[in-house]
Amino acid sequence: MQKAESYTGIFGMHKYWSKKPHNIIKSLINENSKRGEIVLDPFCGSGISIIQSILSERNAIGIDLNPMAIFITKQTLTKIDPSLIDVEFKKIKKDVEDKINSFYHVKRKQKSFVGTHYVWKNNSLEEVWYKENNKKIISKPTKSDIKFAESFSLSDTPYFYPKTELIPNSRINAKKSMFVYDLFTARNLCGLSILFERINKIKNKELREIFQFCFTASLGQSSKMVFVIEKRDKSKTENKPPKKEIGSWVIGYWIPKQNFEVNIWNCFKNRYNRILKAKKAQFSTSFNLNQVTKFSKLKNNDLLLSNQSALDYLQTLNDESIDYVITDPPHGDRIPYLELSLMWNSWLNFDTEFEKELIVSDAKSRKKDISNYNQFFKLILIEISRVLKPKKNFTLMFNSLDNESWRSIVEISYRSKIQLIKITTLSYSANSVVQDNRKKGLETDFVLHFRKTSGKVSKLIEVSKEEEKKEILSLVRKYKKQNKEYRSFEIINYIVIGLLKKKIFFNISIILQNI
Ligand SMILES: C[S@@+](CC[C@H](N)C(=O)[O-])C[C@H]1O[C@@H](n2cnc3c(N)ncnc32)[C@H](O)[C@@H]1O
Repeated sequence: MQKAESYTGIFGMHKYWSKKPHNIIKSLINENSKRGEIVLDPFCGSGISIIQSILSERNAIGIDLNPMAIFITKQTLTKIDPSLIDVEFKKIKKDVEDKINSFYHVKRKQKSFVGTHYVWKNNSLEEVWYKENNKKIISKPTKSDIKFAESFSLSDTPYFYPKTELIPNSRINAKKSMFVYDLFTARNLCGLSILFERINKIKNKELREIFQFCFTASLGQSSKMVFVIEKRDKSKTENKPPKKEIGSWVIGYWIPKQNFEVNIWNCFKNRYNRILKAKKAQFSTSFNLNQVTKFSKLKNNDLLLSNQSALDYLQTLNDESIDYVITDPPHGDRIPYLELSLMWNSWLNFDTEFEKELIVSDAKSRKKDISNYNQFFKLILIEISRVLKPKKNFTLMFNSLDNESWRSIVEISYRSKIQLIKITTLSYSANSVVQDNRKKGLETDFVLHFRKTSGKVSKLIEVSKEEEKKEILSLVRKYKKQNKEYRSFEIINYIVIGLLKKKIFFNISIILQNI
């Protein structure tokens, strides 16, 4: 299995859930398509497949229902002169840095400093961090620090901030009557509103968007979701309090009882520096981005991005018009993309069509259950096989513990003449924002490689439950003999691949019961 590289450079500019390893995606694109051909990803997310297709000189079509996904993909690919970005940054800095920093004013021994981090526990201020001659100072809060921090209120926020209500969903810690603004302290919200107002005043659209991109990329660390990592220094005395380190916002809307409030100007500046570095490197490369808005305009190495439902887009395409489809649709209920992206979409005022999302959501109000998912998923698969050219390939990254979802794939593959030719697994990058920590969770994705054929597709054999169990147990024995230590996902992968090689249809639930 090719090792997943971590997200650096342009791939590390903005968070998105379930980003795929860019090096492996690049290999798949090169193996399955040629220069100038058309590659489609109807669930493109942060656009790893789209970016790699463009960099490998293919035409790329990226579709996603989430406007934030399309925004991230576009911003990642946009080549922009870094000196222009830098000039604009200096103007923003001049206009708002002092004002924002005044919100983090710290007074010690008659001297003034700028607070960098504040540790809160159960809504009371525990520590104030600031810098003196570039040295980090950790201090106990004074009465005036507390009074000052508590003097900020929502009603004082000078400019726009999102008033959007989150959709209650316990899986992602979105509680009833929780709003996007509840994710931030009133002080940080004031700073964010000033910064965002200033960014929106940038006249040049490309520049404005790149700074909006820096802004959304810094929102997680500007929120109350930044947890505190407590580390005891074992070499020192037992009584010494643990050292606090800054965690990073990962997934969901969990506000820990003990959390950091980080100076939002610093969050923004750090993100900006990272993005600028990536943009500088990108600017020195030879690729040129040509974006088109219509399929008929795709020529040799062009990009078509569209924020819409995969099904709606696929239905506009002619039969046999695509050379390669590579996609990674949502799997199960782990990551309700649109619900999670509300934090970003609401700032950018992006509208979302929740009812068209292919998802299983634990949010009761959404009525997005597994049968609804499977129905929708089947339609998508039928469309993908229809638009694929004969003898061309389709790569599906998939990860599900639901029997019916697997059945949908197998059934459609047979009906739509897309032959499953190979199945492999794909590991996540080290800094990926998705790990299924549930017991017996699938810690890797399966990669299903299909080829469109005009001939007969060999059907997977449905065996009896007893027969299936027998086959599984024999694979389990074989695996355990060869591997003394293993994690459950490794044996699950081994069995699934083993059964598919023998062309036996399996129920993932029976595998889980027998490992
Ligand atoms: C697993 S993620 C893709 C992540 C991507 N592979 C990456 O590397 O960033 C699945 C994507 O499907 C999108 N999605 C969900 N329902 C959709 C629909 N009906 N049409 C198009 N996109 C949809 C989500 O917004 C999400 O971005």
